[in-house]
Amino acid sequence: MAVSSSTFDTVLDRSNTSSDKWSKYPDTVLPMWVADMDFDSPECIKSSLNQRVNKGVYGYTHTPKALESAIQSHLLHRYNWQISASHLVHLPGLVCALHLSVQTFSKEGEGVVVPGPVYYHLTKAPQWSGRDLLHVDMCSQDGRWLPDMAQLEAACANPNSKMILLCNPHNPGGTVYTKAELLSIHALAEKYDLLIVSDEIHCDLILDDLPHVPLASLNKDAANRTITLMAPSKTFNIAGLGYAFAVIENTELRQAFNKERAGLIPSPNMLGLTAATAAYEEGQEWHNALLMYLKGNRDLLAQRLAATPLKMLHLEATYLAWIDVSALALDDPHQFFVDAGVGVSNGKDFGNPNYVRLNFGCPQSILNQAITRIEEALIAHGFM
Ligand SMILES: Cc1ncc(COP(=O)(O)O)c(C=O)c1O
Repeated sequence: MAVSSSTFDTVLDRSNTSSDKWSKYPDTVLPMWVADMDFDSPECIKSSLNQRVNKGVYGYTHTPKALESAIQSHLLHRYNWQISASHLVHLPGLVCALHLSVQTFSKEGEGVVVPGPVYYHLTKAPQWSGRDLLHVDMCSQDGRWLPDMAQLEAACANPNSKMILLCNPHNPGGTVYTKAELLSIHALAEKYDLLIVSDEIHCDLILDDLPHVPLASLNKDAANRTITLMAPSKTFNIAGLGYAFAVIENTELRQAFNKERAGLIPSPNMLGLTAATAAYEEGQEWHNALLMYLKGNRDLLAQRLAATPLKMLHLEATYLAWIDVSALALDDPHQFFVDAGVGVSNGKDFGNPNYVRLNFGCPQSILNQAITRIEEALIAHGFM
């Protein structure tokens, strides 16, 4: 079946599926928070899963060679990044790899540099393990969210610093780092001899005509000091199946990571492996159609918000809009949106309470309803 925009227009019933997204708020609120899209996964994933489930035997399972080849081919064709299958580490999720990296490659009290606001597990990983979180401000620079490079250098130069945690494309804010920007971040890591953990889970969700540059692909030194984390889960909407992978070229780092993981972090689930293989082998057509649809949603949102006091920088990637609510001077911006019937993420969780994060990975009719609800609340409160 051909994939067209109508594939994404269908409004799904997600009741009785124990969906996190759809359980958090009352039924009267449209859930637009966690990074989970209201779209059916591609047909190729559904049929692979059905075939595997129909086998009826669900014993211990290792990673199929076909998945490793599919990942290699995906990275080569989409990002011009050639990796060896032996550098892959297969994981049941990406968040555990963030925490594991911090715990493996730093000691209690040592410094972890994190540009933010950012997806909260990048800050929780050092905080929960008693590391010193060295925050660096992400600032608006020529209409894009980027780390303040002077602050970044100061944090890297701190003799206590051990590593940088980077999110590229950035969540929230959608920055797709250019090669030049990544080179300057890598130069600091090299100068101060820091490890880099690069969370690239959103790399397949670039909405503009911009290349994703895996940080580890920059040069030999970058490859040697970087742990790259990726997953098909955001792109193909299979987060509930729990599969992610790390690419760790440096043998010493990979061995240390695997040693720390042993006995604590299980292998990925058989269904996650099945879905990931189908996604990378056969999901391209669906993926390209998804990007077109999300781009339309992003443009619609930007255009309608431009007529309100809410501000949003141009979003280069992801389906997660980072919206500045400060013009309203509200005590609790998040609650204002929930009261309006739109269940956004609270910006406080990412590092700025004057923002909310709105997930527009949904049928356009739902997005239009949400924006109308926001406009009506703004009018009712005299903000428009
Ligand atoms: C930047 C980033 N990293 C990691 C995750 C979650 O990864 P996982 O579900 O594989 O643990 C998310 C989910 O939103 C994310 O945005």
